[in-house]
Amino acid sequence: MIEFKLFISLLVIGYASANFCTDDSGYWLSSVAQGVTDFSYGGSRLNSKYYCFEGCLNTGTALQNYKIDLSGNNGTKLERNRSVKDISAHHAKFDDDDDPNAESCVDPVLRQDVKNALQKATQNSCKNIVNTLVLNLNRPGWAITCIRYNDFAIDDSVSDMNFCSYDAGQFQDYYTIRLAKLDMS
Ligand SMILES: *[C@@H]1O[C@H](CO)[C@@H](O)[C@H](O)[C@H]1NC(C)=O
Ligand SMILES: *[C@@H]1O[C@H](CO)[C@@H](O)[C@H](O)[C@H]1NC(C)=O
Repeated sequence: MIEFKLFISLLVIGYASANFCTDDSGYWLSSVAQGVTDFSYGGSRLNSKYYCFEGCLNTGTALQNYKIDLSGNNGTKLERNRSVKDISAHHAKFDDDDDPNAESCVDPVLRQDVKNALQKATQNSCKNIVNTLVLNLNRPGWAITCIRYNDFAIDDSVSDMNFCSYDAGQFQDYYTIRLAKLDMS
């Protein structure tokens, strides 16, 4: 546990180069969160070549890292450091007709599919959210992750049809859901 905590601190410090998967080629996106109170991952199985996730509720940390099959050629990453307050403040700026997730989830079809699927989630948990998305989206070869946290999360976002970072206000909490088409090559 202590080693894991140290590992996390190192990752938070050396965030830009953090890669706990084994491969360095390709296009990678990561996320590290603290104050994590729930997490889950699904879709494709974890594989150290392209899809890594580690979460620990005792230390309240979650790391995720995956290699993405980008659909376009603009791989400009936006690095974010967001607290739950930032997320709720961002959401408060939008009314029902506009989607606060449009910037980090640029494919309108995927965004709508995620929104529709979330309405079918029956429980207040990342596990239920991920399972519901896996069932309803039918996107084989994609990583689908969910975290809920009360501290902050540092992550990358990219404007690409094969990536989506979606914050969902569900049952009075915010869940950060990330979806990505994996590059398994
Ligand atoms: C991210 O933001 C939190 C406060 O919300 C701060 O404590 C932390 O140091 C920041 N981390 C980085 C790497 O900017
Ligand atoms: C690439 O994406 C970034 C971030 O979304 C955006 O600011 C930039 O204008 C884009 N560049 C091109 C050439 O489309």
